[in-house]
Amino acid sequence: MKGNVLFAPLALNMPATVPHHIAIVMDGNGRWASKRFLPRIVGHKQGIDSLKRCVKACARRGVKVLTVFAFSSENWSRPADEVTGLMDLLAMAVGREVPQLHADGVRLHFVGDRSGLSVNVLAGIARAESTTQDNSSFILNICFNYGGRWDIAQAAAQLASQGLPLTEDSMNKAMALAHVADPDLVIRTGGEQRISNFLLWQSAYSEFFFSDKLWPDFDQAALEEAISAYQQRERRFGKTSAQLQSEASPPTET
Ligand code: FPP
Repeated sequence: MKGNVLFAPLALNMPATVPHHIAIVMDGNGRWASKRFLPRIVGHKQGIDSLKRCVKACARRGVKVLTVFAFSSENWSRPADEVTGLMDLLAMAVGREVPQLHADGVRLHFVGDRSGLSVNVLAGIARAESTTQDNSSFILNICFNYGGRWDIAQAAAQLASQGLPLTEDSMNKAMALAHVADPDLVIRTGGEQRISNFLLWQSAYSEFFFSDKLWPDFDQAALEEAISAYQQRERRFGKTSAQLQSEASPPTET
């Protein structure tokens, strides 16, 4: 069986309502580095370590899907050396981390616009996806050159080019994250409280949690805090509290 170590249960009381799918805007790498008088790219490198810890912590906690925002459509406008650094980091991380992720039963998906990515990055992505394609213990979606508006536009364009009607259902099927359910919980680290063109379509009914921790400092305790906050929320999906209560305990027949 794959992933014995990664997926071993912790000695914790594991509540039933652990989010199935968590999505994260991993913000604060640059500030983490600047506080230490280090180049921003060092913060991004620490960000990769934080991501590795987060995958393990999520899997142990019973989360099944993790989606992270690694490079947005708008990040191209950062200084050229940072953009190149992030591209190199992706290629390096894919080469270095995929064997362990694969051994742990993690399936990797890269989500985003592939045009504009270098041959090197594209080859790394293709290798990571094909190596892990039969894994089913945990899904890690890495949003890279991704934007929520890009995703909605590409789904609509796909349907239009096939002469298909644009409905919620057909759009759901054409979106870049069609292979997973919508995120239950969206976390943003780094103290900012905005969506920044992440999962615009898919987060319609997600719960949001904003953490002041910078991404490299986002540890298991911080994840627990986010999951606990999620567990206090009442997800009504447009219904009333009273409706939810009566659905949970329907009146007994006499
Ligand atoms: C936001 O922090 C973070 C990013 C734009 C990149 C996130 C990338 C990683 C966590 C590592 C790379 C991961 C892969 C898989 C390549 P920021 O730079 O905006 O931080 P700041 O707000 O403090 O400036």
